[in-house]
Amino acid sequence: MSMDWDLSRSLIKEKVEDSNFINELLVLEEVDSTNDFLKREIDNLQTPALVVANCQNAGKGSKGRSWISQPESGIWMSLLIKPSINMQKTPMLTLVMAVSVAEACADVCDQKIQIKWPNDIICNGKKICGILTEMKQSSSEGYGVVIGAGINVNTEMFPTELVKKATSLYLETGEKRQRFDLIGRVVKRFSHNYQLFLQKTDLSLLLDIYCGMSATIGNDVCVMDVNGSYNAKALKIETDGSLTVECEDGQMRSVYGDEVSVRGIYGYI
Ligand code: BTN
Repeated sequence: MSMDWDLSRSLIKEKVEDSNFINELLVLEEVDSTNDFLKREIDNLQTPALVVANCQNAGKGSKGRSWISQPESGIWMSLLIKPSINMQKTPMLTLVMAVSVAEACADVCDQKIQIKWPNDIICNGKKICGILTEMKQSSSEGYGVVIGAGINVNTEMFPTELVKKATSLYLETGEKRQRFDLIGRVVKRFSHNYQLFLQKTDLSLLLDIYCGMSATIGNDVCVMDVNGSYNAKALKIETDGSLTVECEDGQMRSVYGDEVSVRGIYGYI
């Protein structure tokens, strides 16, 4: 598959224009990381800005990990927005993007699409997308939020250590997909969900849909924080994006996605 037909700027532009949301679109053949690109260019771009790359040579995952971003195989995209909201609320935007990607993926395939709190998109029990949100002060006005999404669309195989945990839409459906179409759907869903978020500056208007797709609620999980790890039951997701868990001694705790990792006790979810 060549980039010409499924990741050309004109095809992405046409799809993205539908939602009237993006003010600047950049499509790159190769970049270090689409998140880092937007953070570097923050003062030179109109927002919302969207950058899509065919390949990242230093793709970043969460918690300092790297993110495999081979050419042709997936969607490596980041969005730069400058919301006028309290900075402490920005981690919620990660969940807004998670819902948007999950909805877009569910739109294009019949597989079971879920969200592993806070922001992994799961297809048939394995991860197809991760989201990394970062903040950057701009020298002119306010600060910017960069929300990067890596979606495994047409990936044919993963390294052995990831095989049990990662998958792609292609591996689950047997069909290759046009990346520009899915990018357009994600942007459309995000522009809608972002308006719902801004109405209340929290997740209250998105919680039903988020919880309806949650792979975490009701599960026994292992919460890992700076002090170590403990087992708990995942009970509820709150309007601020936190997860309420019940510890083994009956104590309730609120955990925040930027502070902890949550794993299933019996497997990845
Ligand atoms: C995770 O570890 O789950 C988060 C992965 C985020 C990957 C995306 S790909 C586009 C954007 N640019 C990056 O360097 N990372 C994010």
